[in-house]
Amino acid sequence: MMNNLGKTNIQISPIGLGTWAWGERWVFGAGYKESELQAVYEQSLKSGINFFDTAEVYGMGKSERLLGRFLHNNNYATPVIATKFNPRMRFSKNALGKALKNSLKRLGLEKVDLYQIHNPGKINQWVNAIGDVFESGLVRSVGVSNYNPDQFREAYEILDKRGIKLASNQMHYSLLFRKHEFDGLLKTCKDLNVTFIAYMPLAQGALTGKYTPDNLPKGLLRRITYRKGLLKKVQPLISLMSEIGLKYGNKTPSQIAINWVICKGALPLVGVNNIRQLQEVLGAIDWRLSDEDMAKLDDITEHQYKDFYSRTFYRTT
Ligand SMILES: NC(=O)c1ccc[n+]([C@@H]2O[C@H](COP(=O)([O-])OP(=O)(O)OC[C@H]3O[C@@H](n4cnc5c(N)ncnc54)[C@H](OP(=O)(O)O)[C@@H]3O)[C@@H](O)[C@H]2O)c1
Repeated sequence: MMNNLGKTNIQISPIGLGTWAWGERWVFGAGYKESELQAVYEQSLKSGINFFDTAEVYGMGKSERLLGRFLHNNNYATPVIATKFNPRMRFSKNALGKALKNSLKRLGLEKVDLYQIHNPGKINQWVNAIGDVFESGLVRSVGVSNYNPDQFREAYEILDKRGIKLASNQMHYSLLFRKHEFDGLLKTCKDLNVTFIAYMPLAQGALTGKYTPDNLPKGLLRRITYRKGLLKKVQPLISLMSEIGLKYGNKTPSQIAINWVICKGALPLVGVNNIRQLQEVLGAIDWRLSDEDMAKLDDITEHQYKDFYSRTFYRTT
């Protein structure tokens, strides 16, 4: 059940685990316990999930440090580790190379499997810089993130001229944010055999059904984003997902939301913080929604939820 990451020979599971919340407080709220996160890491590998995504900015390096500790505390299987360079406020030409060395130190690795540019920044400068670290052997593959169709094409071509295959583009994508289906980016990635990594497939918990106008998520950024009005608006979609889930042996809204992303040909990157969540996420993989149910979900989200994020921090991603 493994897939190749883009055109590389790196084998990755059909979903990845995102570790933004690991060690992060202001987006997600009260910290998660290290022992629980380690259990998630180990159980994921035992269950066949081998792809983990982090970034230098997550928890100001804490997410990478935690992942580094977990990596070295067990040898069940070899994980595929992805991290990211953040070009914001980076002015020196060798900033990417230095940042990579610091990430490798925190992760305790000699090379990283996938190194990504977190946001576009100066495309020519940073894409060439990531090409340099690839050629020097410090990373096994390179990707970008939050690159719109034009920025993505530019990055792809810069690397292609150097004989380097862009492996992935990591983008916001879920039932509540389908922009990159409509602007053609998802299709372009498929046509070029670049893995489209879908972040926030559960809309940071809003698509799980557990957050309602009376039960808001923790964390400042989530509270600012998923206000009462938005959580009220999402309830008809949760009801439809629950209804559809009954046909597949009582699948939950979270499982429907993740399966929908897989059916669209993208790789969902799910933020999982405890074993219960992991078990549920694992139950989203080995089956497929019917064309008829995909059409129902597409229809409601295209018409009722197109502007879901329009007044939030995530409107342009
Ligand atoms: N490249 C970028 O710019 C970018 C941006 C955002 C995210 N990402 C990546 O994508 C990953 C995923 O995004 P995300 O974590 O923001 O959003 P997400 O995956 O949509 O949602 C994760 C949240 O959903 C809840 N959850 C997860 N599984 C659940 C389950 N089975 N049942 C109930 N609730 C469940 C948890 O909330 P509670 O903690 O409240 O229980 C968790 O924090 C990140 O970790 C990161 O690696 C990248």
